[in-house]
Amino acid sequence: MDKALLEATAAALVAPGKGILAADESNGTMTKRLEGVGLESSAEARRAYRANLFLTAGCESAVSGVILYDETIRQNMDDGTSIPDYLNSRGIFPGIKVDTGTQEMADFPGEVVTKGIDAEPENGWDDLRTRCKEYFEMGARFSKWRAVIKIDTVSEPSKPSSACLTNNANALANYALICQEQGLVPIIEPEVLMDGAHDANKCAEVTSEILRLTFEECRKLGVHNPGALLKPNMIISGKDSNEQSSREHVAHSTVECLTESVPHDVGGVVFLSGGQSDEEATDHLNRMNSMDVEHPWQLSYSYGRALQAAALKAWAAEGAEASQAAFAHRAKMNSLARSGDWDISLE
Ligand code: 13P
Repeated sequence: MDKALLEATAAALVAPGKGILAADESNGTMTKRLEGVGLESSAEARRAYRANLFLTAGCESAVSGVILYDETIRQNMDDGTSIPDYLNSRGIFPGIKVDTGTQEMADFPGEVVTKGIDAEPENGWDDLRTRCKEYFEMGARFSKWRAVIKIDTVSEPSKPSSACLTNNANALANYALICQEQGLVPIIEPEVLMDGAHDANKCAEVTSEILRLTFEECRKLGVHNPGALLKPNMIISGKDSNEQSSREHVAHSTVECLTESVPHDVGGVVFLSGGQSDEEATDHLNRMNSMDVEHPWQLSYSYGRALQAAALKAWAAEGAEASQAAFAHRAKMNSLARSGDWDISLE
């Protein structure tokens, strides 16, 4: 394992003022997003929308890396340059989503474990180690794997089960180790979903548990923490809860939960937006970065929807330039939130 390379990549991905653009929606998810704004989805439609985003002037000052999907890393910009080569030429690291989705757990209806370590010939996927080698050669320097944890306090038995947490923690650690062997900085993403009516305390309890289990598995396998990034959810009540925390409370409880549950030598923290509004995701990050509380990591973003929702709407309604302008604005707002310098008046 090239620890120096991994640490340098991880540090560059969370450099001050910068964060990650998650543009790695699977073809199914991207189809939903395009159809949601009235556009048809095809390989070319997905390429054209994303290539336009990447062309945004000056975005490299707010974007250190872009997570791509397997289809996109093999596509070209309009001028024929490969997308990973183009991003690298702008000083932006190409990254790659390497999980292959989720599967239902046999004895735990409604719970899923993320897959992608073993080959899936029926779906055209090689095993993870083989794919990582190829992605590295294509220019990728980091990767992402998302575990999906659902809270359900109403059904019996309640969710998540400890089997779900253990299986996902183990898969995340296995993934991280294989990527590190191949020179890719793993983004470890155990997402506790906002779906449901649970309160913020329940979110904190489950988040803390999956984080502890994940890093315990990482320790057992020998994952190099400084060469890995964590992509967590924030501590937020379920969407359907009638007890929504204040933004200040979200910021404080998120930093508190992470500080207690995550090893302090991890290379950095890059939050997911997970269905928060654009402005909420920015405000929460801004508050965490302006708090009077010490935390051991750079706190940054790896937003998908919160960086792209406005750009995608503008792409459908007004075209290329408006889409870039919307993306540039959100990127700038989140870049300011890295240092606590965002303010609502800038929106
Ligand atoms: P959201 O910011 O839309 O949650 O997406 C981030 C991501 O990459 C989820 O895996």
